[in-house]
Amino acid sequence: MSKKIKCVIFDLDGVITETSDQHFEAWQHLAKQLGITLEPSFEEKLKGISRLESLEIILKEHNKQDDYTDKEKTELTDIKNEYYRKLLQGFTEKNINQGVIRLLEYLKTNNIFLALGSASKNSPFILEALQIGQYFDYIVNPVGKRSKPAPDIFLDAAQHFNLSTDTCIGIEDAVAGISAINNSGMLSIGIGDKTILSHADVVYQDVAHLDYNEFKTILDGEYL
Ligand code: BG6
Ligand code: MG
Repeated sequence: MSKKIKCVIFDLDGVITETSDQHFEAWQHLAKQLGITLEPSFEEKLKGISRLESLEIILKEHNKQDDYTDKEKTELTDIKNEYYRKLLQGFTEKNINQGVIRLLEYLKTNNIFLALGSASKNSPFILEALQIGQYFDYIVNPVGKRSKPAPDIFLDAAQHFNLSTDTCIGIEDAVAGISAINNSGMLSIGIGDKTILSHADVVYQDVAHLDYNEFKTILDGEYL
């Protein structure tokens, strides 16, 4: 029997807003400079993965992981990020995914703590562009934490509120993100394709399709 939920931890990219195309376009921009062609199949593989680890995955795939020093790798991720930030220019509250505000309001009304558990160092910038920072009681700083699928980001949020993980849930769109939630011992809610996110406890195709009756049973600790 699960417990009443006191905190919901949201992923940002792919749950609250859509940045995956911009991330991938920026990686393609960098890859081109490195003489690499990035296959479209890579977009899914890089979801939820930190900036530096994404670069490592790309380089490894092309046997180039030993071609650059750590300092050079950091410089390469800076190039990617600068391009990515340019692609985000013009992001406003219009870029908030459908159903997100309704969900944030619903959780606030039910006195549930809200945390942001993103791997992105751009989270504060994006939250400001979307103008939804005020909803979040806590934003996990991903710096120094192991990348998803390690549970660190989710565990940090639970620790911040001094909550046990069975009173928290995580909402994620990425395979690595769902694994991170599962590894933390929290109940996982997937946003996206059921076949891709088959390891999530519950999956909705997008936030707008969240089933509030089912979701209430989860929050009340009556699910499963
Ligand atoms: C995740 C994205 O949310 O953040 C990844 O799904 C991205 O694709 C990661 O690499 C890190 O983001 P950033 O903004 O710090 O480069
Ligand atoms: Mg995501």
